[in-house]
Amino acid sequence: MSTAKQVRQPWVVGVSGASGTPYAASVLRALLAAGEAVDLVVSRAARLTLLDETGISFRDAHWHEDLAQWLGVQELENVRYWPAGDFAAGPSSGSYPAKGMLVVPATTGAVAGIALGLSKDLLQRAAAVTLKERRPLVVCVRETPLDGVTLKHLVELDAQGAVVLPASPGFYAGGSTARELVDFVAGRVLDAVGVPHELYRRWEGDLGSGGKVA
Ligand SMILES: Cc1cc2nc3c(=O)[nH]c(=O)nc-3n(C[C@H](O)[C@H](O)[C@H](O)COP(=O)(O)O)c2cc1C
Repeated sequence: MSTAKQVRQPWVVGVSGASGTPYAASVLRALLAAGEAVDLVVSRAARLTLLDETGISFRDAHWHEDLAQWLGVQELENVRYWPAGDFAAGPSSGSYPAKGMLVVPATTGAVAGIALGLSKDLLQRAAAVTLKERRPLVVCVRETPLDGVTLKHLVELDAQGAVVLPASPGFYAGGSTARELVDFVAGRVLDAVGVPHELYRRWEGDLGSGGKVA
């Protein structure tokens, strides 16, 4: 009989203050549906975008009820929440057994901070740790148009081994509602780290099978 204790190995999900909180919600729901553990970090600026896009005031002291309302999910026992200013949090250390990190959505500020190793908050520190530990890091950048500095930072992230995954939905999967297009991007984020999901219909080589987009 094995006496080894089963170690919880979460995905760290960093939500930064770019427009696109539905992308984060879709990724979080799909990770939980896949039975994955999640450590959640929400930047200070992300509280503004969340408030703007959902009407929800995300509070450290009431994160559980705020997250349940945001995701429309009540079973959150697989989620651990860390305030963005908490540098003593688990994901601040490489010895914390995280699987990797998904920054969804990623601001140009988060892109810069991660590329330059600034670690100005827990989200950026956890991303720096993910890179130094050579764990998978996906950066789902959301901005348009992109300036030259951000493009350089994205190239730098790619060189450091991160997956740069723009929040840029494809239309070949037949999606036409906003929710389907959001789920397409979320599905590509999960594809990048090998987590199974059913968020979008995969390309199977049938030209024209996506249906007509209005
Ligand atoms: C409503 C709103 C929408 C924003 N959308 C974006 C965006 O799409 N992309 C981006 O890079 N920054 C966006 N910003 C600006 C960032 O929130 C700001 O640069 C912030 O400093 C980023 O901090 P963070 O990376 O710690 O979350 C937005 C701000 C607000 C209030």
